[in-house]
Amino acid sequence: MRSVRLIAAAALMLLAAFAHPGEAPRMELGHRIYQAHCASCHGVRGEGAANWREPDAQGELPAPPHGPEGHTWKHADGMLYRIVRDGWRDPFNKTQRLTMPAFGQVLVPAEIRAAIDYLKTLWTAEQRQFQAEESRKAPFPPEAG
Ligand code: HEC
Repeated sequence: MRSVRLIAAAALMLLAAFAHPGEAPRMELGHRIYQAHCASCHGVRGEGAANWREPDAQGELPAPPHGPEGHTWKHADGMLYRIVRDGWRDPFNKTQRLTMPAFGQVLVPAEIRAAIDYLKTLWTAEQRQFQAEESRKAPFPPEAG
């Protein structure tokens, strides 16, 4: 009986693993894109620029971390997608330039989404849950797949 139950449990775990077949390749793509296009500013482990909390000498906010200590996880998927596609600057920056560059001409929509989905691996389970709920109101746009 015990072994039957064990086999049943193993089968369920396998089923769960295969229920989202697109996810593993997307994570790998997202990690590659992150390292190629984002890590130079946000850090190879998403740790952000040094002194990211304070404006620099130009009065611009440096690149923040994407992990639990940052606030990336507070934005819904739709908002994160717009930030990466269109770029972003803090409204209180002293300059007008987009300190967070726009990637709409550099990455295709599925690549932008993959990079954002990779950022989710840096969050705590609670943060992931909070962000998933926020994203129900503001999901990825249809073109992101
Ligand atoms: C040239 C440096 C640079 C690169 C490259 C860059 N970023 Fe940023 N990013 C920034 C800066 C600076 C900010 C903060 C802007 C502000 O608030 O003034 C930012 C902000 C963000 C935010 C908003 C975070 C928040 O808490 O509101 C997200 C999300 C983000 N970046 C994702 C990415 C992703 C994904 C990539 C790669 C595709 C990337 N960034 C590449 C500099 C960069």
